[in-house]
Amino acid sequence: MSSSLGNSRDHLSPDNAPPSRGKITGYLSVAVFSAVMGSVQFGYNTGVINAPEKKIKDFMNESHTYRYDTPIDENTQLNLYSLLVAIFAVGGMLGGLMAGWWADFFGRKFGMLLNNAFAFAAGGLFFFSREAHSYEMIIVARLLIGFNCGLYTGLTPLYLTEIATADIRGALGTLHQFGVTIGIFLSQILGFPEIFGNGEYWHILLGLCVAPSALQVFTMPFCPESPRYLLLTKEKENDALNALVKLRGTSGVDDDLNEMRQEHQAMQSEKKIGILHLLKKKSLRMPLVISIVMHLSQQLSGINAIFYYSFKLFTSAGISDDLAAHATSGIGGIMLVMTLITIPLMDRIGRRTLHLTGLAGMFVFSILITITLSFTDKVPWFDTANVVVSLVYVVFFAMGPGSIPWMIVAELFTQGPRVSAMSISVLINWACNFAVGYVFPIMQKELNNFSFLPFTAFLLLFWIFIYVYLPETKNRTFEDIASSWNKSQSEAGNPQAKYIPTEDTAIVEFQQQQRSNR
Ligand SMILES: *[C@@H]1O[C@H](CO)[C@@H](O)[C@H](O)[C@H]1NC(C)=O
Repeated sequence: MSSSLGNSRDHLSPDNAPPSRGKITGYLSVAVFSAVMGSVQFGYNTGVINAPEKKIKDFMNESHTYRYDTPIDENTQLNLYSLLVAIFAVGGMLGGLMAGWWADFFGRKFGMLLNNAFAFAAGGLFFFSREAHSYEMIIVARLLIGFNCGLYTGLTPLYLTEIATADIRGALGTLHQFGVTIGIFLSQILGFPEIFGNGEYWHILLGLCVAPSALQVFTMPFCPESPRYLLLTKEKENDALNALVKLRGTSGVDDDLNEMRQEHQAMQSEKKIGILHLLKKKSLRMPLVISIVMHLSQQLSGINAIFYYSFKLFTSAGISDDLAAHATSGIGGIMLVMTLITIPLMDRIGRRTLHLTGLAGMFVFSILITITLSFTDKVPWFDTANVVVSLVYVVFFAMGPGSIPWMIVAELFTQGPRVSAMSISVLINWACNFAVGYVFPIMQKELNNFSFLPFTAFLLLFWIFIYVYLPETKNRTFEDIASSWNKSQSEAGNPQAKYIPTEDTAIVEFQQQQRSNR
């Protein structure tokens, strides 16, 4: 093996690179665009119920009056609306848990195509709920679209990483997160009162979830199935070859095929560990607890209180409805910009630093949210200040806690327990998403201006835990990580001493090893 590689782990040496490396072909672009529609769908439905909250509540009251001749009881209305918002996460949890099986059973391509049936069904229910005087239809539709989005959170990143060459795998993986923020932003723009966020058109706003699905249905049939799935799961060598030739735009794909087989063999060398086994395994308890706390820190930071309910939060600080809707779109805009800024920082600054900085900032600004909410009566400009500090709070979320928990679980585990660890994390994440979505309106009612304080307390606790236990995960190898968990807890206080790989470095290392063995 040439010594030109040296110790560099960042790139492959050019003399070894097959001709297809990193080329963005037409097929690849269409496949990426089509798949990312799933991410947009997820973002759209996360942000869409924010602005029309009051309109939908009024609609519930009107429908109730229409059907039963009495106005709706205020507590029933609050509970039903919270359910309408939060049931999305129940669907998400089910979809997230089924995604792995779905992807193998239907295939990546057909699996995604089929998933759109749920979006069209949900869209239909949203569209016609108004005419039918039925808020139940909206609740069922939220469950369906939640399931759809849960499946996408598994399918989209999987397909994106499987169609990429190793050198652009990381970049393509981040497109999922980018698509999600675009979806959130779009939902907030379309939720402006002068567009669909009003008493006349809110059902169209919700029903527009059919748009990303339509785009995917029209483009996905032209995309190749994941070559990795064809080769390794279906063992259809010819089909895999055809798909690869399309994606790479060249017939010189033998290296690609070999690489897949080799990676596959390396992965097979470790036995899969089931969820129950993982829960019982002492040596993996620490990374499991860290993974869970990372996801708790994302959801219990209160971010979904902002994504789902910021409109109400802003208006309760004294901002007008119009201004609140426009300020809410600032949240989506900030997420979008911050995602673009932090993606390149992720490997340079490191996950630990970014996540801790993000949580610390959220902690400080969650306190400021409470202060600005509490004293709007006394200090007139605090209503505007409340919007500003909420936006800065979102900046810190996007800096790390928004995406890092999803990456870190894959990085803390080797292949054997990885899938189980990710399933547990997905479950916990969606369960907390549901809890916050459901409980926050009740907290707002009971705690009034102090509704954000519980999140402040959680942020402090999680920051301390993560500061003490989370290792940095830059440029580490799998062997080091595995052994680091087995070492005595005495090292836990010195996180910098720990040693863990990113998936990409592990793959590059593996490839280097293969070459030097030739
Ligand atoms: C429902 O509508 C009626 C009549 O418009 C109104 O008096 C009542 O306050 C509303 N109830 C709620 C919970 O919004």
